[in-house]
Parts: sequence; C-alpha cells; structure tokens
Amino acid sequence: MTDPVVKATALRKCYGDLCAVDGVDFEIGRGECFGLLGPNGAGKTTTVKMLTCALPVTGGDLTVEGLSVKEDPRAIKYLLGVCPQEVNLDPDFSVVKNLVVYSRYYDIPRAEAEKRAAELIARFHLHDKLERPVEDLSGGMKKRLLLARALINRPRLLVLDEPTTGLDPQSRRQIWQEVRDMKKNGLTTLLTTHYIEEAELLCDRLVIMDNGRIIEQGTPRQLIEKHLPGGGNLEDVFLKLTGKHLRDE
Ligand SMILES: Nc1ncnc2c1ncn2[C@@H]1O[C@H](COP(=O)(O)OP(=O)(O)OP(=O)(O)O)[C@@H](O)[C@H]1O
Ligand SMILES: [Mg+2]
Repeated sequence: MTDPVVKATALRKCYGDLCAVDGVDFEIGRGECFGLLGPNGAGKTTTVKMLTCALPVTGGDLTVEGLSVKEDPRAIKYLLGVCPQEVNLDPDFSVVKNLVVYSRYYDIPRAEAEKRAAELIARFHLHDKLERPVEDLSGGMKKRLLLARALINRPRLLVLDEPTTGLDPQSRRQIWQEVRDMKKNGLTTLLTTHYIEEAELLCDRLVIMDNGRIIEQGTPRQLIEKHLPGGGNLEDVFLKLTGKHLRDE
C-alpha cells in the first residue's frame, strides 16, 4: 500500500508470558474504515492503546502518518480522535464543559473550542443536555458525547473502540450513520467491534483477530467468498476459522 495512514509491523504487547498482541501486521489506507473484529480478549483494545500511545509496545513497529509511537507519541496524539471502550467522560462537568476542557489538550483557543463544541453538540443531538452533568445522560448519549469529544481536534485518524457495545438498536444505528457520514467526508477510521453487522456495514477492510493474532484479513465480501463460497456471513467465517462463536448466541 502506498502512503498508509497506519502501519503495524510484527507488533507485539506482552504481559509476562501472555502476549495480548502477538506479532500483527496491518496497514490502514487513507479514507478507509478499517476494522478489528474479534471476541473478548482477542487483543483489540491492546492494539488500540498502543496506537493511541497509551501503552508502550513490547516489540515491532507501529506508525501513524509515518511517525513512530515510540519516538513521536505527542505528535501522534494531535492527529488522533479517540473514542475509548470505557466511558471516561468527566462526571463532574457538564456536557459542554467536557468538550471545552478536553480541547485544552490540543491547545485549541477557548473561543474556537466553544464554537466547535456547539457545532458538535448540535450534530450529535445533545443540545437538550448542554448544561447537564454527564451522569444525567443515558448510555447512548454518553457514547455520542464520546464521539463528539473525539472530533474536537478535527483528527486525521478516528479510533473507535467498540463504539456501540451495550447500546439499543436505535442508538447503535445513530452512531453507524455518523461513522458513515464521517467516512463520506474522507476521515480515516479504525474501528473495533465484535458485532458482525457493524463490521459488515462500516468496514471497507477488516482483520479477524483471535488470541493476539490476525487469522485472516480482507474486505467483508472477500472473506465470505474465500471461506464460504456457498454463502454465509462473517460470523460463519469466524466460526469456520476458529471453531468459536464471536459472542454468545
Ligand atoms: N494490563 C494487563 N495485564 C495483563 N493482561 C492484560 C492486561 N490488559 C489486557 N490483558 C490481557 O490481554 C488480552 C487482550 O485484552 P484486550 O483488552 O486487548 O482484548 P479485547 O479484544 O479488547 O477484548 P474485549 O472485546 O473484551 O474488549 C486479554 O487476555 C487480557 O486479559
Ligand atoms: Mg476491548
């Protein structure tokens, strides 16, 4: 691939004997929505944390826009918008203050931060809750606020770690629509999920991860055609490759 936004080479993260990420290689192209699909414990969040410079790598290389996570973590953080798996909004702050205070990490001037926060709050349908403390929000609203917060610095790469886990179908669809709109605007996205439907709908290409390793990669269609020429879905592909279900039925 020429000019990938992200390049991981023989990437590893080990905790003693356990390698949560055990030698993975992948590239994310510009404007692409790239998925990490795998069950609990596959190593998705560990990969995301190394990419977002929240966790040091044990071995291999990982670059964002040619910058190494080992040498340029600060420069990389400026390029990223991150929606973590755990909701880590500040419970003491209102909706709007969560966005404005967060923007300080990016040295965004106050007036500009307030303008961006107002735009994002409107776009993510949170205007009714503008001054409410975060603890008054529903689970779906908190996920929308996390997504809004991830966009405050107008990132080059958006990283979404299980953006819809635990949401009801309607809230899930709202988030999917947002991700698709951002993709139309050319934003490069890394998405982790264990929802087949989400991966099939949003991802241009994806890797299937299990036990810290990539066991297959391609477009959703390629994976299905290669492994299930008679028809099926990604869940069936995963079952065929690993002998396991992605999640409980
Ligand atoms: N700080 C840690 N110390 C030891 N082991 C860890 C640590 N963090 C993660 N692990 C282990 O690494 C493996 C991968 O975890 P990770 O959180 O990356 O999985 P995941 O694919 O994100 O799963 P989930 O779908 O449940 O979020 C797991 O076996 C987990 O127990
Ligand atoms: Mg995870």
